[in-house]
Amino acid sequence: MNVLNLDDFSTEEINQILDLAEEFKNGKQVDYKGEKVIANLFFEPSTRTHYSFDMAALKLGCKTQNFDAENSSLKKGETLYDTVKTFEMFGADAVVIRHVENEYYKQLVGKINIPILNAGDGTGNHPSQSLLDLLTIRQEFGKFEGLKVVIVGDVTHSRVAHTNMKIMERLGMTVYTSGPEEYREEGTKFVDLDEIIDKVDVVMLLRVQHERHEHSMIETVEEYHKLHGLNMDRVNKMKENAIIMHPAPFNRNVEIADDVVECSKSRIFKQIQNGVYVRMALIYKALK
Ligand code: NCD
Repeated sequence: MNVLNLDDFSTEEINQILDLAEEFKNGKQVDYKGEKVIANLFFEPSTRTHYSFDMAALKLGCKTQNFDAENSSLKKGETLYDTVKTFEMFGADAVVIRHVENEYYKQLVGKINIPILNAGDGTGNHPSQSLLDLLTIRQEFGKFEGLKVVIVGDVTHSRVAHTNMKIMERLGMTVYTSGPEEYREEGTKFVDLDEIIDKVDVVMLLRVQHERHEHSMIETVEEYHKLHGLNMDRVNKMKENAIIMHPAPFNRNVEIADDVVECSKSRIFKQIQNGVYVRMALIYKALK
């Protein structure tokens, strides 16, 4: 089984993956006894996604190989396909890949004969992140249907926003977007943060994706924080049971105030923990 894009999974399959992740959270044990090797191929920087896939593999008793893009033959002009094929030939049982190109996996499907787990493609998809977001939401509210979410920030350049908007709408949630006008995405329900803040169940913040911008941001950090950042004043207007999420890395005092990061409504570190269980479920299903 490949995990490339959540569009390839039925709603039932998505719920099954979340159930399996919940089982791992509750102590389900699987031990491959070092007989399976997962290769982590990250062509873009990553802390959480990379090392939580690694941790998930280790917890399942797999061994891992961690590709160092900076010191690899990429520097000698080697292609993505040739790099991935190399790890397949080494004997890896699955590959986890993050790459700057949208839908990079299309050039691999049918030619790579081990499961591919997409750890993020450009501004396109980030399926494992969405699944861990969904797990966190389900744990909190016990359902998806009828929940309201606002995704705030650099929506245009965010694969997290793109993946979440689609899957959340499919699961019956209403998704609004907010943030700087220049990151407004066509076809989304774009709203003023201060008008929606007291009406939503989830406030999901995004980092400004400077590395994907052709021109630097118009607003200064202070302006961004004042206009679109989640500070305590805004948190205090949120519904009683509403929660704050962020895929991280977060920039303190830009999209989120320092004292909001670990406030009682924040589930940011819980998301990180859930990421390991979701990735255990994905690796387990991929290896089956
Ligand atoms: C995100 C990513 O890389 O897409 N981070 C993550 O995987 N947790 C978001 C980001 O980089 O801002």
